[in-house]
Amino acid sequence: MAVSQDTERFPFAERTRGDVGEGIASVLALLGRADLISFAGGFPDPKTFPRERAASLLAEFAAGGESTAFQYGPTRGLAGTLAAMAGRIESLQGRRPEEDELLITSGAIEALELVGKSFLDRGDIVVIEAPTYLGAIQAFRSFEAELRAVPMDDQGLDVDELERLLAGGLRPKLLYTIPDHQNPAGVSLSSERRSALVELARRHGFVIVEDVAYRELGFGGDALPSLWSLAPDVVLQAGTTSKTFFPGVRLGWAVGPAEVAAQLVNAKQTTDQCSSALGQRLFEEYVRRGWIEEQLARSRELYARKCELTLAALSLHLPEAQWTTPRGGFFTWLTLPVDTTELAHRAGDAGVGIVPGALFYADGRGRDNVRLSFSMVDEALIDAGIEKLARLL
Ligand SMILES: Cc1ncc(COP(=O)(O)O)c(C=O)c1O
Repeated sequence: MAVSQDTERFPFAERTRGDVGEGIASVLALLGRADLISFAGGFPDPKTFPRERAASLLAEFAAGGESTAFQYGPTRGLAGTLAAMAGRIESLQGRRPEEDELLITSGAIEALELVGKSFLDRGDIVVIEAPTYLGAIQAFRSFEAELRAVPMDDQGLDVDELERLLAGGLRPKLLYTIPDHQNPAGVSLSSERRSALVELARRHGFVIVEDVAYRELGFGGDALPSLWSLAPDVVLQAGTTSKTFFPGVRLGWAVGPAEVAAQLVNAKQTTDQCSSALGQRLFEEYVRRGWIEEQLARSRELYARKCELTLAALSLHLPEAQWTTPRGGFFTWLTLPVDTTELAHRAGDAGVGIVPGALFYADGRGRDNVRLSFSMVDEALIDAGIEKLARLL
């Protein structure tokens, strides 16, 4: 529930006014009900969590008398974790970050917060995709940025439209994009558009913030080049281990030009000073032993199966709707001939969790869209959930 502000009593900063801060909490609240068939949160399936291996690593740390995992760490990250992360980035993206280009963060959301803290003054323009990840809208708004949304289609961000806006005088400081298996639209930026986008950034002097939260969860073996690998001079990449390892460790990374990385490290000193050393050590060992690749292979299979079941149920029960066909990640994006905010409430009452599209726009659009997340819903309940939703229409 949103709590209204009494600014006479508590003189909150101006930037906290409005709806900032309520969005994600209201989505998370939907997950609390045990009886819900939930297509709501973009959470990883608990079946993928490495319980035994995490427990055995913890026991090893304790038995070995290790103190690093339990101690404060350097702000940029532990040396071993940075090396493990750099190795993974190299093997997955074909370019190894230099030591001064990489830092460990407390999740991708912290990377976005550090970007905001480092770059944004009041009124600065940030281009976002329409629709986009709610957490990013909230993070950039909290620094009083002006958000300009550029539409997407099934090839991702409409780069031609962006070019027209830039030619018309738009001067963004940052452009935020999720090129792979986008949240919430489930689409990926085409190869041609990737090249065109980085050229626009170079020509017009803005920084691309590339969020790769779902990049490693492609269902086929056909990853497109990351924007950072194409243009490490103008791209700051934010990544996370939340969807591939487990979100309880709150671990991610930022990689970009050395000057930018140094500024983010500076900003991090007063957010959390350092990311969890315990989480970093767990991840480092998990990578070193090759376990992350095993987990990833299983996760990709699981989510591909759930995606297939979801799309099949949509074809069967909701043929009048339109939806995107993801090639990875957690989401498909529906277009329906109804007000979806109202539908989401009725669906909740009927035992199905969905997220109305308006939450993913900064300007109230998306009233006929729904984000369906197939990541956490039980495979055996997917068809029943979609059927229930269809009955409400
Ligand atoms: C696109 C995107 N970026 C970032 C995040 C946040 O990830 P983290 O758990 O690392 O903060 C999410 C989580 O839902 C996401 O969907």
